[in-house]
Amino acid sequence: MNVLGIDIGGSGIKGAPVDTEAGELLEERLRIPTPEPSSPEKVAAVIDTISRHFGWTGPVGVTFPGVVVNGVIKTAANVDRSWIGVDAAQLFGGATVLNDADAAGLAEVRFGEGRDRTGTILVLTFGTGIGSALFVDGQLVPNTELGHLELNGKEAEHHASDRAREKHDLSWEKWAERVEEYLRHVEMLFSPSLIVIGGGVSKKAQKFLPYVRLDTPVVPAALQNQAGIIGAAHAAASRMQRVH
Ligand code: BGC
Repeated sequence: MNVLGIDIGGSGIKGAPVDTEAGELLEERLRIPTPEPSSPEKVAAVIDTISRHFGWTGPVGVTFPGVVVNGVIKTAANVDRSWIGVDAAQLFGGATVLNDADAAGLAEVRFGEGRDRTGTILVLTFGTGIGSALFVDGQLVPNTELGHLELNGKEAEHHASDRAREKHDLSWEKWAERVEEYLRHVEMLFSPSLIVIGGGVSKKAQKFLPYVRLDTPVVPAALQNQAGIIGAAHAAASRMQRVH
């Protein structure tokens, strides 16, 4: 099935048509900076621009950087707070809407690093915040929000996200210490068999992963920053198959 996948991030909104059986983009993705303020109306206008750019009339899957339950937004840590309580599925014309890290995780487990693996897999995305997707034998436990775990009396994502690296001007090695400390904490809580690192930094994994030492295998996301788009489209296709 061909589905338009759209990934709403703290700094950019990216979209492309996706072949959901192959898990591949069908056209070059379009990226538009996230509007400020990132209010529902402004973001909906960007989604509309992306659909029109691709001349899209088919199914659409959209990620959101917060808790999403049945298409309704429950939290908004890194986007405008007026999103809380909004029925995003309705606002986006009946699109499938899910958490951004959950979408990236679905793509990795279906097409990337987690494919054909059983057990507990954690996909963690490092960007403006830290997103998490937890899988048990391929089944997603949605909205885990592990970026908000407390670490040294602080929210983990304020300490170890990619934004924290930029904000505090940390070297890759120094930032890797923070990432390692965070990963040790989630390792202790979940004893995963694999940790996949996604988000914008996944394509720069060689700069910091060599400094991260953990008992659990830690690998960069195979789909890099396309995972959100592919996962959003995949989730929409799965939902349509369930409904029809
Ligand atoms: C949000 C999560 C999101 C993550 C990555 C966190 O601040 O609470 O829902 O997945 O950022 O965007």
